[in-house]
Amino acid sequence: MLSVENVTKKYGSFTALEDISLTFERGVYGLLAPNGAGKTTLIKMLVTLLFPTGGVIRWDGRDILSMGGDWRGMVGYLPQQFGYYKSCSPRSFMAYMAALQCMDRKTARPRIDQLLDLVGLSDVRDRKMRAFSGGMLQRVGIAQAMLTDPAVLILDEPTAGLDPKERVRFRNLIHSLASDRIVILSTHIVSDIETIADRIVLLRDHKLYACDSPASICRQLAGKIYAVPAGTSLGPGDLPLSEYQGEAGAMVRVFSEAPPAGAAAVTPGLEDAFLYIYRDGQT
Ligand SMILES: Nc1ncnc2c1ncn2[C@@H]1O[C@H](COP(=O)(O)OP(=O)(O)OP(=O)(O)O)[C@@H](O)[C@H]1O
Ligand SMILES: [Mg+2]
Repeated sequence: MLSVENVTKKYGSFTALEDISLTFERGVYGLLAPNGAGKTTLIKMLVTLLFPTGGVIRWDGRDILSMGGDWRGMVGYLPQQFGYYKSCSPRSFMAYMAALQCMDRKTARPRIDQLLDLVGLSDVRDRKMRAFSGGMLQRVGIAQAMLTDPAVLILDEPTAGLDPKERVRFRNLIHSLASDRIVILSTHIVSDIETIADRIVLLRDHKLYACDSPASICRQLAGKIYAVPAGTSLGPGDLPLSEYQGEAGAMVRVFSEAPPAGAAAVTPGLEDAFLYIYRDGQT
């Protein structure tokens, strides 16, 4: 079990994260928050690229900083900016990454081929990555993060730049990887994690706002989200969340404690929750 205990991170006098306490057990955790909320900061502390200003992160009770290489050997990490050599093939890049992790060649070779197969890149494993699409590169990134068969797989914005087909493929891949490990992935795109995350971690105002299942986060808005035609006059407490094109024309989803006249209640989605929680432009 991975536990974050009262962790604070300051950059000089700026507090990026304040008093975060969280535990991660097996399954997929979606770190969902707007730009600048502190997702990468939290992730970098989990992989020991940054150190907390206060608090401690433990794996099964041991401070990860005191575990050193033992901890890093248990964690697979895809950074938000994933660096690779354009003239390398996935296979040679993976071999390089394996060497950096002191894996011997005999162990590394079959593992690399197995992982490239898992992420659907067997056919192009010897092609230069120069011509790869964003989705193919992300899959190389996930494969390299899986080299040591990590107990904790951490992916920082893994779906940025993926097309819809690649997103579906990514979701299926994460499902298959999450059965016996902790997967933590960050995003500010709600639809990317709505269906894959067992738990959503929400940060707001540099603090932990919630760590709960998507269903339970949505349930808190049950009976308070309405769909009204665009242009409907709203009450003082009503909060328009998003516009969309309905069958009968432009519609607005509205948060309301008391239903606007003629409004139909709709089932709240995670996007409604996200828009409501971050309504005032908070990070
Ligand atoms: N090295 C640094 N020095 C000073 N401030 C920093 C540093 N790194 C991050 N910050 C600030 O800390 C806050 C959190 O940044 P972080 O990169 O963790 O956010 P994020 O949620 O990952 O954002 P994004 O969605 O854009 O990737 C931001 O306000 C950022 O400007
Ligand atoms: Mg980030």
